[in-house]
Amino acid sequence: MSEPLEHPEPELIDVRDPERSRAALERLGERTWKEALDWLYGPAADRPTAPDLYPEMRRTFFGERGRPGPAPSQGSSSNHVFTEFRDRLAPFAYAAQHPGSNSYFTPPPLPMSIAGETLSRWLNQGIDLWLAGMAGPFVEEEVVRWLCDACGFGDDAWGVLTSGGVMANLMALTVARDVHLARRLGELPRGAALEGIRLYASDQTHFSVERAVHLLGFPEGTLRIIPSDPDFRLHAPTVVAAIAEDRAAGLTPLAICAVAGSTNTGSIDDIPALADLAEQEDLWLHVDAAYGAAARLSPRESRKLPGLERADSLTVDPHKWLYQPYDLGGLLVKRREDLLRTFHREPEYYAVWGPEEQPLHWYQYSLEGTRPFRALKLWLSWKHLGSEGFAQLIERNVDLAQHLARRAREVGFEVIDPELAVVCLRLAPPGLDPAVTDELQKRLQRALEVSGTGWLSTTTLRGRTWLRAGVINYLSTGDDTDRVIATLTAASEGVLEELDG
Ligand SMILES: Cc1ncc(COP(=O)(O)O)c(C=O)c1O
Repeated sequence: MSEPLEHPEPELIDVRDPERSRAALERLGERTWKEALDWLYGPAADRPTAPDLYPEMRRTFFGERGRPGPAPSQGSSSNHVFTEFRDRLAPFAYAAQHPGSNSYFTPPPLPMSIAGETLSRWLNQGIDLWLAGMAGPFVEEEVVRWLCDACGFGDDAWGVLTSGGVMANLMALTVARDVHLARRLGELPRGAALEGIRLYASDQTHFSVERAVHLLGFPEGTLRIIPSDPDFRLHAPTVVAAIAEDRAAGLTPLAICAVAGSTNTGSIDDIPALADLAEQEDLWLHVDAAYGAAARLSPRESRKLPGLERADSLTVDPHKWLYQPYDLGGLLVKRREDLLRTFHREPEYYAVWGPEEQPLHWYQYSLEGTRPFRALKLWLSWKHLGSEGFAQLIERNVDLAQHLARRAREVGFEVIDPELAVVCLRLAPPGLDPAVTDELQKRLQRALEVSGTGWLSTTTLRGRTWLRAGVINYLSTGDDTDRVIATLTAASEGVLEELDG
């Protein structure tokens, strides 16, 4: 850059000269942090979400046109840009930090992980290729090792960080197809070779598993959905029966996809028995522990998640219960070469090292190419908090979920007791029509949202609508939870009257 750019703040673009830019960059950093804190102690402390409905929100954001405007042709000052953030965005952002927030699975991110994210964005390492990241790939290797250790995976295990659980589930089933099925068939299974295959999962499986099976080219009906038990768990005997039926029909069972911490209720499938079954039947065992795996860091809670180490592939998602900002998921595999066999390619533009060096190229282990330096935020925040710190926060969430369940039951809600820290609750006055009862839950959810006291979602369980609280907010206390319950209870009278009229 020779000529200075025509811009109100060229020193924030051409940063070569510290004399000219360092102070301006420090001010930019301070301003960024200040905007974040003004949001944290302003709108985010006031309410988890703005009460606006979608059409109003679109109008507020986009103006009367109601759709995106043109890209700005001229630059503007950082002050102007921050003002837009402050006015148009911050007041309307979802605040996982609000103490009444019981989100889908959005945690308040740990400040140290935000610091790590900021540093990683400055460094902008290409984690796909060793030389593009130098030490960066080692940070991922270390964090993956810690995740393997937490889940009981041995020395042969390996893993890779992903954009989230959806990507990890897709990659896991790609490995099941291209390693496990390929081994059986003696060739890479494609086209007609994908017919007549069966995978087994419960009705509580995350939607991404079904979509992955579809994307991988398996025909309709390949994923056999097995009803979960009354506690939403998948048990081995039901899978045994399904396998026997399918074998008798000439089909080929390939894999069991279990869940350890389901999205709806946090339920945990009977992993040890499913692992035995997978072994007996020579099936791939994938466990989606996107949410639940974190609890393995707590000596008290880990007993609820036995057998994760027996999975062939395991989805973990630190951007859920390890309080990391998006995005940060991960896939762990029992055998390192399984990932390599599935994803390894050798483009000529990467062939710059002698094989004797054997550098770690992450692109050979992932469906993704260039990836953000995701590991740094987890690495820094893990060092800052320690496994024991994580365990304490997780245990507090579990205790708080039990408190929420107790309080809700005391004031007359039906409650599905939390296995980990998801609580489903439902106000069902006796004699009320089931469809009206469903509508009651939706209106209660909305009443809470409008109140600004807290937030929870709804879901459908066995055909009925429930309120659902994902208690992964480490900034929430018993008093905050009591306020959420009190708001729901106070709203119920008015809502019931509305529904009656
Ligand atoms: C059990 C489970 N698996 C997978 C996912 C997908 O994770 P992500 O949306 O982070 O990709 C979720 C998301 O909530 C989940 O609950």
